Amino acid sequence: MTNVDQAVLERGRVATAQAPLPAEHGPRLRQKRVRPANWVLNATAAVTGTLLALFVTIHMVGNLKVFAGADAFNSYAHWLRVVGYPLLPEMSLLWIVRFVMAGAIILHIWATLLIRYRGAKQRGARRSPMMRAGSIISRLMLTTGLVLLVFIIIHILDLTTGHINGSFLSPTATESFAYENLIASFQRPLFAGVYVFSMLALAAHLIHGLWLIATDLGITGGRIRPIWKAVGYSLGVVVAAVNLSIPVAVQLGVLA
Ligand code: HEM
Repeated sequence: MTNVDQAVLERGRVATAQAPLPAEHGPRLRQKRVRPANWVLNATAAVTGTLLALFVTIHMVGNLKVFAGADAFNSYAHWLRVVGYPLLPEMSLLWIVRFVMAGAIILHIWATLLIRYRGAKQRGARRSPMMRAGSIISRLMLTTGLVLLVFIIIHILDLTTGHINGSFLSPTATESFAYENLIASFQRPLFAGVYVFSMLALAAHLIHGLWLIATDLGITGGRIRPIWKAVGYSLGVVVAAVNLSIPVAVQLGVLA
């Protein structure tokens, strides 16, 4: 099996190219074109996946500031609200990022679910045991994706709007209380547990997601694939481990 065959198999995705029909069918019996084309869906999944992976990586670097103390973390959170001012109105860059990320999440879900549906339809009864096999994380992509969707909703209600954080302090024009809100949230064992569980799902989704992006971008060379795999594993593990260390540190009393 070539690397490309293997990549398509692992993806469980629909092939981008249509299989040629036998010559006796003649030119008039072409396969029905589907819209949007499969390559559009694969490209959408790859581009939005890359954007989301970039976001979680940058967000993780920002989260590290929590270990520098309340003042450092709060001034970082305040800076996020005013960055770009006075060139741009306050919060405008934050709102641009919010819209881009919301759009990326919606498109990512749309493209990946449609790819999955088409792949299942295309394989139908021909689905061989070999195709059903695959690593656990590849088979858990839908589950880990759903966990992350629920996590994002909980997370925004917890640390951005404060609807499910009883001790939430809203930011003012000059100050942010992100540190106090985060500690109050993670001191609740249930919430600390939800964050830890979600970060495990994030690690699995990121590791396999980055692998799939390589396939979508046509990175199928025998030498580059192991390197890409190592990068994906490292990023998935580092992002999740750093994030996960925060609720754990609060539960252990290291952060208070
Ligand atoms: C334990 C890990 C995490 C911590 C400690 C954390 C921390 C925070 C904090 C403190 C805020 C509020 C910032 C503010 O004051 O406005 C925030 C917002 C946010 N976080 Fe996280 N985060 C974590 C993981 C994640 C992950 C994995 C994702 C994505 C899958 C994510 C997505 C978001 C989003 C979308 C917002 C809303 C940004 C906004 O609209 O203002 N976070 N996070």
